Amino acid sequence: MNKGHFIITGTSRGIGEQLARMLLDNGNCVHGISRGDSNILDNYKNYTHHHFDLSNILGIEPLLKEIFSQINLNASEMICLINNAAMIEPLKTIDNCNAEEINKNIQISLIAPMVLTSYFINQMDDVPIRKKIINISSGSGSYPAPAMSVYCTAKAGINMFTQCIGAEQSKRQYPIEIIAVDPGMVETELQQVVRGKDDQDFEMAKLFKQAHQTGQLQSTEELGKHLINIIDKKIEPGKLVKYFEG
Ligand SMILES: NC(=O)c1ccc[n+]([C@@H]2O[C@H](COP(=O)([O-])OP(=O)(O)OC[C@H]3O[C@@H](n4cnc5c(N)ncnc54)[C@H](OP(=O)(O)O)[C@@H]3O)[C@@H](O)[C@H]2O)c1
Repeated sequence: MNKGHFIITGTSRGIGEQLARMLLDNGNCVHGISRGDSNILDNYKNYTHHHFDLSNILGIEPLLKEIFSQINLNASEMICLINNAAMIEPLKTIDNCNAEEINKNIQISLIAPMVLTSYFINQMDDVPIRKKIINISSGSGSYPAPAMSVYCTAKAGINMFTQCIGAEQSKRQYPIEIIAVDPGMVETELQQVVRGKDDQDFEMAKLFKQAHQTGQLQSTEELGKHLINIIDKKIEPGKLVKYFEG
């Protein structure tokens, strides 16, 4: 694969931590963003961690400015932004969600990826190396579910945003390959949260428990291999791809 710099949100655990680890093992540099740390990633010399809360929308541009100032693209074949961090809660019918919960979810899961994408493209537009943005979406962006309206709406937004930016990029001299990826169901803390809910309070919990019991979840390692293939592959800007297409 092309060697390069990867800016990844949500590297303290789950999919983001695993993908970062695999990219580092392949000789890339990773710049991780999350509130918490990863003891695993901290052991890699090519890993730089940025403690940051993505609900701080106005802090995103200064953060990316700092990250870009640390990146030397001369020896790089590729630069890639992976918008992976998201929030699953609130898992309640909308009449039971308060403004603060709705606002926080949309800020982290939708507005932060939009702002990161905006500044990334603004800074990288003229740079003549391979550039890619991967927005981690979800099947929840296409299938409505009760008590998941905030998360589903954020993911549907990610899908539409990706398609709009794909249309913008297709006219550029050095287009950025922006795509959204539905990772399928993966065993992470996010899955533990959804299946840990009481079936009475959250009816979808039953389905998530069933999926776990019947072995339908992939490991982060399995998904990581698909994501590495998707990073490698040239895919038309704006496409929504499923993990197994990689
Ligand atoms: N697991 C699945 O089955 C599944 C299915 C479909 C889609 N996805 C998508 O895959 C992506 C990764 O999910 P996952 O399962 O790996 O989730 P996870 O285990 O819950 O990890 C989420 C990551 O996002 C970071 N994050 C959350 N809030 C943040 C904030 N305010 N500021 C900065 N970082 C924040 C977390 O770091 P800190 O808490 O340390 O900040 C953590 O590193 C998400 O976009 C999710 O929607 C997952």
